[in-house]
Amino acid sequence: SSRTPLMAGNWKMNLDWKQGLALVEDLGDALKDVDTDAVEVAVIPPFVDIRTVQTAVEAGKLPIAYGGQDISEHESGAYTGETSGQMLAALGATYALVGHSERRQYHAETEQITNAKVKAAFAAGLVPILCVGEPLEERKAGKHVEYTLAQLEGGVEGLSAEDAAKIVIAYEPVWAIGTGEVATPEDAQEVCAAIREALRGLFSPEVADAVRVLYGGSVKSSNVAEIMGKEDVDGALVGGASLKADEFAKIAGYQ
Ligand code: G3H
Repeated sequence: SSRTPLMAGNWKMNLDWKQGLALVEDLGDALKDVDTDAVEVAVIPPFVDIRTVQTAVEAGKLPIAYGGQDISEHESGAYTGETSGQMLAALGATYALVGHSERRQYHAETEQITNAKVKAAFAAGLVPILCVGEPLEERKAGKHVEYTLAQLEGGVEGLSAEDAAKIVIAYEPVWAIGTGEVATPEDAQEVCAAIREALRGLFSPEVADAVRVLYGGSVKSSNVAEIMGKEDVDGALVGGASLKADEFAKIAGYQ
C-alpha cells in the first residue's frame, strides 16, 4: 500500500530521566542501520522523558517522531496532573496516544472522554493514535470485531473527513498486551481489515485507504515480520520490547 509503516514504542511508566537518556543515546546508534524513510519510527515516553527525546531529535541524533501517552481533553487551566495538547505540540511532539486499554481500565476513560481527547489532539495540531481492542471474554464470545468497532466509532465520532484521514488506529487485544501471547497474523488482519472497512462506511474510501492501522500486543523482533506481512496491518504499537534499543531497532527494521 502507499501507507508508510509506523513502528511506535510505548515506554509506559518505565524509565526515569537518566534511564530515558540512556535509551535515547542507545537508540540513536541502534537505528543507524534502519531505513527511517521507509518506516516511520516513533517513541511514546513518559512526559518527563519527552524533553530528552526532543533534544536528541533536534541535534540530529535520533531520526524519529515522538508523542505523549495521554492528553488532556481540556485546553489549559486548573486540571492538576494533566498535560495539554499545546504543551506536547510545543515540545515538537507529533502524536498523542488516546484510549490505551490501561487508561480505559485503570482511569475509567469512557468513550466520551476518548472522543474528547481525540478532538483535543487535532485541535493542538497533533495526530491521535486511538487504541481499541477487546478483552478476553469478548474474544471468547466471538464478539471481538463488534466490540472493537464500537470503540472505534465512539472515538472518531464527529471528526471531519480531513482529520479522520490523519488519525492512526492501534488495534490492541487486551489479552495480548504484556502477556507474551501475541495475536496470530490472521487474527490481527481480521480486525485491522474490519477497522478499515468501518472507516470506509463512516467517512469515505479515501479516508479508509489513508489511515494507518497498527497492531499492538506482545510484538517482538521474532514475530513482527509475520504480522507486518498482512495487508491491513500498517505498523506496530510496541510496549515491553521498545525498552531495549537493539530489540526495538530490530522491530523497526523488520523489512
Ligand atoms: O502500547 C503498547 C501495548 O500495550 C503493547 O504492550 O508490547 O508490552 O504487549 P506489549
